[in-house]
Amino acid sequence: MSHKPIRKAVFPVAGLGTRFLPATKAIPKEMLPIIDRPLIQYAVDEAIEAGIEQMIFVTGRGKSAIEDHFDMAYELEHTMSSRGKDMTILDGTHLKPGNCAYVRQQVPMGLGHAIWCARDIVGDEPFAIFLPDEFMHGKTGCMKQMVSAYKEKGGNLLSVLEIPEDQVSSYGVIDPGARDGTLTEVKGLVEKPAQKDAPSNLIISGRYILQPDVMRTLENQEAGSGGEIQLTDAMAKMIGSQAFHAVTFDGDRYDCGSKAGYLEANFALALQRDDLADDVRKFIKKYI
Ligand code: G1P
Repeated sequence: MSHKPIRKAVFPVAGLGTRFLPATKAIPKEMLPIIDRPLIQYAVDEAIEAGIEQMIFVTGRGKSAIEDHFDMAYELEHTMSSRGKDMTILDGTHLKPGNCAYVRQQVPMGLGHAIWCARDIVGDEPFAIFLPDEFMHGKTGCMKQMVSAYKEKGGNLLSVLEIPEDQVSSYGVIDPGARDGTLTEVKGLVEKPAQKDAPSNLIISGRYILQPDVMRTLENQEAGSGGEIQLTDAMAKMIGSQAFHAVTFDGDRYDCGSKAGYLEANFALALQRDDLADDVRKFIKKYI
């Protein structure tokens, strides 16, 4: 069966980034670099790799650095090219006007509300969502793996991973059904359950492919966990009337919403780079 292609991706980037203050007082947390590429760039690279054409950023006040980052930088591009510099370093940073859109979430009312703010740009087609804090790094990107699964199954897909049981209360958790290779049927979803109420230790790890119906569900979604409008609650309502599958990502995940996860991502990537690995290996030995 052929399914409508995934052409659009929503990046909710309106969060205040309080966990990284004071670094994020004047700089969006999504612009913090993993070595030399900002976090948001990795998410956009992952979307491009998956064949996605339009990037929709749900931003807020103080986030204009993200728009500048993906804009044309005439002086920089001109100067670099006239000096014969390697321009590939800027790949993926200059999105054409037709390939990006920005909409503001004016009030911080939760992830579900942020996604709903993009409803007019998403329109009536299935779309992807990327939570850029969740840095997914693999030989094949997480979204590309999900798009392959979508081509087979259609419907709605979530990326999941197993975590220690005492951490489930910080995440959206799935109630798993039948498993078939890397795909698991989703029978239910709970946002930030108490450990004792969690249906599993499989958490939603920040990548989604959703049918546009979710926007209509979000329209009337009441506040949930933390008093916020939760995407997980809206998706939970759709289970039963729509197919929902979870994809276990074949790759590494770093929780860059936490300082330790952010540092780990920097070290892990540095150790994979020819220009850095030797130096980093040497100094790490000094400290441990
Ligand atoms: C959000 C989602 C949650 C998901 C998590 C992944 O929570 O609501 O379902 O598991 O991202 O990081 P947040 O981290 O915004 O509280």
